[in-house]
Amino acid sequence: MEVKVANTDLAQIKDEAVAITFFEDEKVLKGKGKQLDSLLSSGISNLMKDGDFSGKAGQVTVFYPQNGYATKRVFLIGLGKKDKFDLDKIRAAGGRAVQKAKELKLKRFAFIYPDNLPAKFQNQDVAQALTEGVILANYEMAKYKTIDRENIVTVDAVTLVERDSKKSSAINKGREIGEATSWAASLTRDWVNFPPNELTPTKLAEETKKLALKYNIKCQVLSPDEIKKLGMGALLGVAKGSQEPCRFIILEYNGGRKTESPVVLVGKGITFDSGGISIKPAENMDQMKGDMAGAATVISAGLGAARLKLPVNLVVLVPTTENLPSGTAYKPGDILTSMSGKTIEVLNTDAEGRVVLADALAYASRYKPQAVIDLATLTGACIIALGHAAAGMLGTDDKLKNRLRDASKKTAEKVWELPLWEEYGEQIKSSIADVKNTGGRPAGAITAAYFLKMFADGYPWVHLDIAGMDLEEKGKAYTPKGGSGYGVRLLIQMLRDWRR
Ligand code: BES
Ligand code: MN
Ligand code: ZN
Repeated sequence: MEVKVANTDLAQIKDEAVAITFFEDEKVLKGKGKQLDSLLSSGISNLMKDGDFSGKAGQVTVFYPQNGYATKRVFLIGLGKKDKFDLDKIRAAGGRAVQKAKELKLKRFAFIYPDNLPAKFQNQDVAQALTEGVILANYEMAKYKTIDRENIVTVDAVTLVERDSKKSSAINKGREIGEATSWAASLTRDWVNFPPNELTPTKLAEETKKLALKYNIKCQVLSPDEIKKLGMGALLGVAKGSQEPCRFIILEYNGGRKTESPVVLVGKGITFDSGGISIKPAENMDQMKGDMAGAATVISAGLGAARLKLPVNLVVLVPTTENLPSGTAYKPGDILTSMSGKTIEVLNTDAEGRVVLADALAYASRYKPQAVIDLATLTGACIIALGHAAAGMLGTDDKLKNRLRDASKKTAEKVWELPLWEEYGEQIKSSIADVKNTGGRPAGAITAAYFLKMFADGYPWVHLDIAGMDLEEKGKAYTPKGGSGYGVRLLIQMLRDWRR
């Protein structure tokens, strides 16, 4: 989809539809709302009087002008109460407008750039949020549909209409950032949605390589032999059950000062998690195609950062493999020696994420990083704790947690901290090795993070457990069913603010 900015007067808009936003219970229309209302012979204020449109958050009412206005349809979109307003309301408004346009099979429409938002919201940020809302809502995963393709419709163009040319440069800047963040989030959605027979570790690495070339950043893909030479016995252990070779993906983007140490992003890249010998129940096992969401998120965020030319040095690390049962698979009772030298007693082969991440976190210390953040669909326990509303956040550095919290507020991608107290370490003590890979049912998300902490040695570190976040089950304003792209905008926002 193309998002454009135009200096058109409201009287001059000729499009398939025009969308405009209102706050709930706006008694007296002002500015653009008032102007459009008079162009429509009070059509809008009449609908409000009748109670057909109140401006509730999420409400969309379609109005068909009969007085000769050049555009056939007007979408009235509710922003909710003005004192409850935040940027996610505008993101959602953009999303709702696109949903309605898709429903009506429209190819393009105009969106009247709002002029009545609380003053503290800057044009660049508003335009970014609006751009994200329209692009993300337009997302479709249509590759595998071969019949009734005419029912899959997307919008080709949305024009943001703002008469005041003094605002143009801020709006255009916001549009550009929004295009980059939603492109990156859509890439993550694609990868999460791709079936696991297509998106193998090899394919994920190849696709990453292609994109890295395109955006001019360094990419290295390690083969099982090279992984073995590095001593990554943990990753290799998990990979043993699969016919597909594992990979270790390394991206390096240097946008910062030469002397500045990098921020390292690590992502869990299990392209399919059957549980291995400790096999999962059949029901919903297909959802484990999304067990590489952490990997997809950090790669996409890295590419997005490069596309936006952010002034940071960045490294992205992805251990990727399948987790399958077979005659060669790793078993409960096995002891693996990780790259750090620490030994891991495997008690449950389904706790594979933490095992592969152990090697990636050890590898990260090579860069003497100023911060390491890992993202992983790590535990069902995190879903029990937080549901699908927020990622679990655990780590060793409060400043880094605050960076994520700040970015979380701006992007509406929620994080919630869980404690990582010493007490939890008791649960993963092994009698025969350095650590065991499960700590039982109590505090499962925390003991998993505690396991990671043992390998995240010598640098500030935060872990995000995104188990509940990678797949959208119902569909929301700008998040269709399927891969959500959660975390990409969050990471890019954090990186944009890094030097502030
Ligand atoms: N990938 C799963 C976690 C998961 C579960 C993600 C549901 C998304 C939705 C992970 O590898 C796993 O299987 N974890 C186990 C750990 C347990 C065996 C200690 C779990 O959560 O049950
Ligand atoms: Mn598992
Ligand atoms: Zn897993």
